[in-house]
Parts: sequence; structure tokens; C-alpha cells
Amino acid sequence: MNNAFPKDFLWGAATSAYQVEGAAQEDGKGLSQQDIINSERHEKFGFADASVASDHYHKYKEDIALFKEMGFTSYRFSIAWSRIFPNGDDVVNEAGIQFYRDLINELKANDIEPIPTLYHYDLPWPLVEKYGGWLSREVVKDFEVFAKYVINEFKDDIKYWITINEQSIIVQYWTQKCYVLPEYQDDNQLRYQINHHMNLAQAVAVKLAHEAGALAGPALGYAPVYARTCKPEDQLAALNANDLRNAYYLDVYFRGYYNVAALTYLQKAGLAPKMEAGDEEFFAENLSDFFAINYYDSQCAHACPEGEERRWSGYNISGKKGDMSGFETHPSFYQMCANPELRTTDWDWAIDPIGLEYVYRDLYTRYRVPFMITENGLGAYDELTPDGKVHDDYRIDYLREHIQATKRAMDLGVEVVGYMPWSAIDLLSTSNGYKKRYGLVYIDRTDDDVKECKRIRKDSFYWYKDVIASNGTKLD
Ligand code: BG6
Repeated sequence: MNNAFPKDFLWGAATSAYQVEGAAQEDGKGLSQQDIINSERHEKFGFADASVASDHYHKYKEDIALFKEMGFTSYRFSIAWSRIFPNGDDVVNEAGIQFYRDLINELKANDIEPIPTLYHYDLPWPLVEKYGGWLSREVVKDFEVFAKYVINEFKDDIKYWITINEQSIIVQYWTQKCYVLPEYQDDNQLRYQINHHMNLAQAVAVKLAHEAGALAGPALGYAPVYARTCKPEDQLAALNANDLRNAYYLDVYFRGYYNVAALTYLQKAGLAPKMEAGDEEFFAENLSDFFAINYYDSQCAHACPEGEERRWSGYNISGKKGDMSGFETHPSFYQMCANPELRTTDWDWAIDPIGLEYVYRDLYTRYRVPFMITENGLGAYDELTPDGKVHDDYRIDYLREHIQATKRAMDLGVEVVGYMPWSAIDLLSTSNGYKKRYGLVYIDRTDDDVKECKRIRKDSFYWYKDVIASNGTKLD
């Protein structure tokens, strides 16, 4: 059997602007909400802030040379809105757009397909001050100004636009991914209101991309939900969880309406978003072309009695196994739990390559759109040895198993156009600074000391290079 991937399969990796660029206030860039959120997290937990990150702003040419060395044919990155429109209005910062022109030109000169994300958590801070950011529907108009300008600027260069990154994760971890003014943080309906505004913004982006002759799709953090047992009530709980955590988003992107069971549940719980007449019609007129999957793990659920208290997703911030702060609970709908059948990372994320295969198969049956992997990776404590090496065999194992899962799904007819794991280089983790690393390239810095951000090839770098050179046939 020929195990090679299709000839034009896109091999690459991914990053996002505030997690790698740094230069947070350089060349006219305005602050984004992530500059503020991460400086607060620095104060509170000691994680690095976003001011230098991996210094990609200054070292992007060196980084692209490393991508070329690995044989990348694609690179997913994001465009920082606040670099181009520092105040979130319509006044362009010329140096900001020039950075992305240079980045895209450098990628193209190296035969690497640029795959930009329009929005990866980093709203211009002045819009938070002006009207509470995503809490207000006003943000959709400002987003349109930004998206129109950028899509038009790069209309000859970009084939695939990724619209908004991980709306479902924003709903779960809203204060980490959005700046929510303290006086609103107890109003959980606003989680779904923010998401509704993002749905409108993402449909605007799809419309604009189509007008520019490009394709567009969202990147969603997607984890399939299994039932903890084969009891019918647990199966139903898993279905409920899939509806509220997954289909609630995908049905909007690919069908133009909210998933009925999930929306009804939210209405009864007083959590449903307020909509205006014509919103769902607008979604339906601007459906996405592909689904950019960010896959890390699978989840598990069981039935939840009516009397339970509603709780939101917990997390493990310490990197010590078992330190999860709790599980999402929706009384009489579902309760999330650990899956006893699976290995986990140090941060309690389940490792489940078959889950990825399951996602491809399930979603291709339901939506019949092409996929690209825009995130997939293992967050770990990496060690730089005294002779300057990083032996990340655990990451190689993880990536290998997920590439194999991708191939098995493709062998059964699923259309996958590319694989861009997280992350191309080490970056500022959204939850754990530089303690938790994902990169194929090590960035020599710590949370406390930025040093010179020297680039060091990890073992996974050399392994991935062989994978790409063999078009996916040499995985061992
Ligand atoms: C995804 C995000 O949720 O997961 C990334 O799109 C993020 O921005 C990645 O870095 C891994 O999460 P974390 O918290 O380990 O950085």
C-alpha cells in the first residue's frame, strides 16, 4: 500500500501573533487585551508577559529559514489587529501592515503557503475601554473595518483565511481569552453573548474573503466527548455535551443556525444569547468552506442529576498530574469527567490519537467539508541539555500517532488538505507561560529571563523534517 500523503498536502506548523511576536509596543502597535491579561498573569502567577514572547517580530526571517529547512509548505500565523489599527478604529499604522507584508513575502519567497488567522484572542485594548470589547455588538463593525482592510490588502496572496480562533474555548475560559471587566464576570449569559458577536464577526469575515476570491473557515478547539459508560443515560449526556460544546458552534458555521437542543438548554437556563432579526439568515448566507481543527485531546461525560450546581470548566495550571480544578457541570444535561482509559499530559490533557480519527469521520459525515489541522501538539516541560539539545521523543510519539490517525481517516475518504501542528516554535502558552512548551524549535528563554531567545532545533525538528521529505511515509 502507498502510504504517502497527496502530492500537494500542506505540511507546516502554527503560531499566533501575541504568543510569538513580542514587540508589543513597537513601531506603533497598540496594546491588545492579551498584553493586559498576560501582564496581570505575570503579576499573579509569575508567567511571562507578552512584551517579548519569542521575539518573532525581530527574528521572523531566521524563523522562516528554519521552516524552510524543515520543508514546510504552509505556515499558520495570526495577524495582530492592534498592530494595524492601534486604536481599533480605522486609522492604519503603516509600520504594522508592513510587518505582515514582509512576513507574507518572505513566506512566499520560500514557497510556504501563508495561512493567516484574523483573530486569535488579541482584541485592541482601546475597544475594551470604549465599550467592553466583545461584550458589545459594536465590536462587529470595528472587526469588519479591520478584516476588510487586511483581506483586501492580501487578496493576491492568500488562498485560505482562518476567521476566528476557538470560540468554544473562549466560552469555557472567557476571562483568560477575553478581557471581561470585573463587574461582568458573574454574568455567565455573557459568555454566550460574546460568542454570538463572534459568530457575526466570523460570518462577516467569510463574506469578505469570498468577495476577495478566497476560502474561509473557523479554527475551533474541538474535542469529541465520549460517554463514561455504556449506560444509556451516560450516552445521552455525551450527546448533550457534544451538542453544547461542539455542534453549537459548527452548526452555525456550516448550516447557518444554532443547534436546537443546545440553544433550548441555554434558553431554559437563562444563558442564551440575545439575537436580532436576520442574524441566523446572515449566518446561512455566509457559510464556511473548510474547518480548521485544533485538536489536542478528547473529553468524557456522564449523566448529571438535576440538583447539581452549574459549574464551568476547570483547569490544571500547575503542570502536576491530577491538579484539575474541577469539571464543567450542567445540571440534568451533563457533567464532564476524566477518562480512565487514556494517558494524560502533565497538565491532565488526555492523549487520544483515535479521538482525532473519530473527529474526522464524524464531522465529515455530518458536514462534508475539507479539514486542515491548524493545531495539534503536546505541551510539555522540555529540557535543554548541557550540550544544547532537546530530546523531545514524547512529542515525536504524539505527533506521529496523530499523523497516522489523519492518514487512516484519509484512507477512508476524508478530505484533509494540511497538517499544521502547534507549534512551529516555542511560544507563550495561553495558560502556562514558557513552562509548557509545544515547539519544534526551542526558544532559549524562561518566564523570568528573556535572554536572547536563541533558536535551537529540537529532536522533533529533525524528525518532522524527515516526515515532510518523505511526504508522510517516514514516521519512525
Ligand atoms: C489553543 C490555542 O487553545 O491551545 C492556543 O489556540 C494555545 O493559543 C493552545 O496556546 C495550547 O493551550 P495552552 O494553554 O497550553 O497554551
